[in-house]
Amino acid sequence: MTISIRESVARMQGYVPGEQPRTGGFIKLNTNENPYPPSPAVARALQTLDPADLRLYPDPACTVLRRAIADLHRCDPARVLAGNGLDELLSLCVRAFVPDGGSVGFMDPSYSLYPVLADIRGLSKRPVALGARYEWNMPAGYTASLFILTHPNAPTGLCYDRASVLGFCRSFAGVVVIDEAYVDFSDRDCLEFALSEPNVLVARTLSKSYSLAGLRVGYLVGPEPLIATLDKIKDSYNLDRVAQCLATAAVNDQAWMLANVRRIRDTRARLQQQLVKRGWEVFPSQSNFIWTRPAGKTADAWTMALKDRQILVRYFRGPRTSDCLRITVGTDEETDRLLTVLDELASGGTTR
Ligand SMILES: Cc1ncc(COP(=O)(O)O)c(C=O)c1O
Repeated sequence: MTISIRESVARMQGYVPGEQPRTGGFIKLNTNENPYPPSPAVARALQTLDPADLRLYPDPACTVLRRAIADLHRCDPARVLAGNGLDELLSLCVRAFVPDGGSVGFMDPSYSLYPVLADIRGLSKRPVALGARYEWNMPAGYTASLFILTHPNAPTGLCYDRASVLGFCRSFAGVVVIDEAYVDFSDRDCLEFALSEPNVLVARTLSKSYSLAGLRVGYLVGPEPLIATLDKIKDSYNLDRVAQCLATAAVNDQAWMLANVRRIRDTRARLQQQLVKRGWEVFPSQSNFIWTRPAGKTADAWTMALKDRQILVRYFRGPRTSDCLRITVGTDEETDRLLTVLDELASGGTTR
């Protein structure tokens, strides 16, 4: 028997997700989940679901959810595509908007899934190196088939000047996906470019600000022809009945989401101040996480020492990232515990 594996797939390294511990007791500040529960409307919607209905396929067009998202952004539902997490939508974009032999552009550093999506298809990667303080400047003459612009960026948490984003989108000969996974935590978004520009899609997720990482729902907003193209290639039933129903309830309760965002932004400000006080370099975050260059130990050593004390943070190997940590903003209690443990470890406290 000869098993054939596509060469690009045989050669590639898969995406490495952040650790999801199987035992409880950890303070999880490593995968940018929301520390607060989703809207109570989600629990109420769950109670309306009848398990008997699960014998039926879900609505392939996600009509009700798309209408709720379209109402939120004041656009036609034909400009909205819902997906099984934003990750699925990114994968669809790489499948649809990059020809064989084409290339995928993204910032470096940025979300480490993008190069993996290029590798699956054996496409070339065109990373754009960010500056010393992770600022963004497009090199002259830059080209790629598709560009994924992360706003705010991950893992750095930085937003960019909107005029520069628009200028880039207008000058780029290809589709630009603006990945706004964290934008609800920021003070500027680019959604209007998805409604005004013929080549711009804005991508959002319910995993972060809506506290629904476990549900797997994301969406794109953009020009109808691009949305229709992606709609052709998605799995027919990419969002199950439970996800469609609960996501609709969450989107319709903006007040709950915004209140949690406010709490997280307040805690973020406090955590930033406290880290700076301890001599850590902190980049100005517009996200629900903080990108910081620690003092006193290497980032790697801090990660391991914190894990020994049941606190998970995210460490990325690599030339642009290995001297920093990404710390998700948790509750105030989790933040207090983190700061206490940092002080204990800094003063030579035992780690085991
Ligand atoms: C920048 C960025 N885009 C997309 C995603 C994926 O979102 P989802 O959970 O909706 O697949 C993440 C998740 O961490 C992310 O950091």
